[in-house]
Amino acid sequence: MIKRKGIILAGGTGSRLYPITKATSKQLIPVYDKPMIYYPLSTLMLAGIRDILIITNPLDNQKFIELLGNGSQFGINIKYKIQSKPEGIAQAFLIAEDFIENSSVTLILGDNLFHGDLLVNRLQKNYLLDEGASIFAYSVFDPERYGVVEFDSKGVAYNIEEKPKNPKSKFAITGLYFYDNTVVEKAKKINLSDRGELEITDLNKMYMNEGKLIVEIMNRGMTWLDTGTIDSLHEASSYIRSLEKRQGLKIGCPEEVAWRMGFICDEQLYFLSTKHIKSGYGEYLQTILNESKDYFGIQGTKI
Ligand code: G1P
Repeated sequence: MIKRKGIILAGGTGSRLYPITKATSKQLIPVYDKPMIYYPLSTLMLAGIRDILIITNPLDNQKFIELLGNGSQFGINIKYKIQSKPEGIAQAFLIAEDFIENSSVTLILGDNLFHGDLLVNRLQKNYLLDEGASIFAYSVFDPERYGVVEFDSKGVAYNIEEKPKNPKSKFAITGLYFYDNTVVEKAKKINLSDRGELEITDLNKMYMNEGKLIVEIMNRGMTWLDTGTIDSLHEASSYIRSLEKRQGLKIGCPEEVAWRMGFICDEQLYFLSTKHIKSGYGEYLQTILNESKDYFGIQGTKI
């Protein structure tokens, strides 16, 4: 069986969030009640991925290690690598070549938040991909900020443009990408774009030209947020706060995901809870431990 691994790209300078990110990495700043990277980490874990590489900028590598360690507390393996210069998302596959070996790989951008009812089903289905690539498209108000995909009348994607001035559709490509093992060889063939980056869109187009790219629409019942600007960061925090307050359930909590996915046992979750009692985060972990696991189980997973 093909092994499946995950990468979180948490490099970049975060310059659009200056001065907030002048002295710290964007993916370490809070989105409401937890560091931003907890969200993409939880997403990969929900897909069932337990071997994860975090790519950081040189300055903040140590801080990520301090926060997440080797992942054993969540029943997963986390490794780290450095992106010396922010030269594009597709560069992640060159940096990660030794880590990927002969596995399939899922890449998630460290500043992307996914949430919604059908997410786990979608993740686990795509995670099983053996050949080709699978990505998501999401309807947005401002597609020009993203990679934009065009679909033909049968719903098949036939073109993707990176940050087009005049977008031909409202469907943005999200920062969650599932690839087969040919991704590393493909990434090696990409040239730097005009903005000096190895574009993920060029990589996706290579799969598209081979007829091996699936672009699935993430429907309106699901939420995809990015945190690239001050306003979108604030909106993401408000979204998380509103839902968490209303439901009494946390979003993007890797301790909870680890426990519900069966990566860690009750005793381990209890131990983790004792580390964060003062902020209320630990108290939350103890509350869920005392509730029926099935009731708020993870959809589509066997607990
Ligand atoms: C990147 C990709 C873009 C994608 C977006 C998702 O944009 O280049 O195709 O739609 O992530 O967040 P960037 O972060 O470089 O603005």
